[in-house]
Amino acid sequence: MGRSVYIYTYGCQMNVHDSEKMRGLLVRDGFAVARRPEEADLIIFNTCAIREKAEQKFYSQLGRTKLIKKKRSSVRIAVSGCVAQECGEGIFKRAPFVDFVLGPQNIRHIPRMLAGGPRGVCVDDNHEIAAEELPPDRDSSIKAWVSIMYGCNNFCSYCIVPYTRGREVSRPSGSIVSEISALRDRGYREVTLLGQNVNSYRGDTDFPGLLRRIDATGIPRIRFMTSHPRDLSDDLMAVLADLPHVCEHLHLPLQSGADRILGLMNRGYTYDDYAGKAKQLRNMMPGIALTTDIIVGFPGETDEEYQSTVRALREIEFDGMFAFKYSPRKGTKAFTMRGQVSEGEKSERLSSLLLIQEEITRARNRTLEGTIQEVLVEGTAESDPGMMTGRTRSNKIVNFESSMDTVGSFIDVKIDRAMTHSLWGSRTDSH
Ligand code: 5AD
Ligand code: SF4
Repeated sequence: MGRSVYIYTYGCQMNVHDSEKMRGLLVRDGFAVARRPEEADLIIFNTCAIREKAEQKFYSQLGRTKLIKKKRSSVRIAVSGCVAQECGEGIFKRAPFVDFVLGPQNIRHIPRMLAGGPRGVCVDDNHEIAAEELPPDRDSSIKAWVSIMYGCNNFCSYCIVPYTRGREVSRPSGSIVSEISALRDRGYREVTLLGQNVNSYRGDTDFPGLLRRIDATGIPRIRFMTSHPRDLSDDLMAVLADLPHVCEHLHLPLQSGADRILGLMNRGYTYDDYAGKAKQLRNMMPGIALTTDIIVGFPGETDEEYQSTVRALREIEFDGMFAFKYSPRKGTKAFTMRGQVSEGEKSERLSSLLLIQEEITRARNRTLEGTIQEVLVEGTAESDPGMMTGRTRSNKIVNFESSMDTVGSFIDVKIDRAMTHSLWGSRTDSH
């Protein structure tokens, strides 16, 4: 077989990073990275199963890829990620032209699978996953994803992740810290620690302990995701407030503002618990940005309960929100719950929620007008290639006039204008 690979990546940051790891393994084995799937000898679909829409997106792209294989039968097609784990051999039934299926806990086996028989499936539970050191081929030379734990033990009733990514396993802190020190030495400016529930990290230290050790490496910016509100301890809040390199941003999924729904979701907190913690965080760190995830139309959600979520958004004033229509996932507890909400109702709730949050986000962003923010310059702005773009410590996108040679450096930008999805400013100084 030839030696070039193209990877399609769907879903979350764990998947983005898993793709970097697979690419790293293959590049180490002599693979080149193809620019287009038509030119590749190996096409990998790193899939997401979190909502039906993500799955459909993958299946329609897979359908189009069948034509490539028709024209060029030597091309190999692999399906990895959460849909692979969920469907296993079933993928072959639906798409007989697929050659390999491997779940998220088995990505390190891709070279071995390619060397093996014509077809292969690897969807075993792998508890050694945390010990494996895979050499990622990273997309960026400024910001790096770093896995600190794998899997999830929460079993929120709507969520498929515990079934696809297995039980929680934490990576030893020494291995995490040495990876980050090496990244710092190579000039990386930012790391984002990844795990389904990072604050239940339990290596040879707990999550606040891990953050202290990472902060001491001197890597300029530290972020992490995702945190569970139930596990957000006073100690973690103190560490967030105290450590100089840990950025003032917390992504803390609320999911719903109604206690009955939170109970059915098996989230382990009430709205008041959550609001109390949010208040404490804002008292300790007035500049902290809080972002969240919301699901609308969970089974049995009444209009009143939806209104509780609206009230929660207005009370907490998140800096940003990702909202989703509940998507029934086979095998989860919520799949068989009564009172499934109609598609029309879900769409209405979603679009009105997005409008409400947009206003709140814009108002939050406006409070930054006139302030000076430290920005890590990432490249040219998407909406205007004549401008440069970067992020504040609070993770807000800032566009400003500057030159390409500032990429990778920290500069001070005065915020002139705040929009919903970005801030616009002018450079005041570099350091
Ligand atoms: N339907 C809709 N949204 C979901 N999420 C997880 N599972 C589902 C589902 N079945 C959302 C949650 C989570 C985010 C990553 O995806 O809000 O925080
Ligand atoms: Fe990531 Fe969850 Fe999607 Fe798997 S199902 S790719 S863990 S978001």
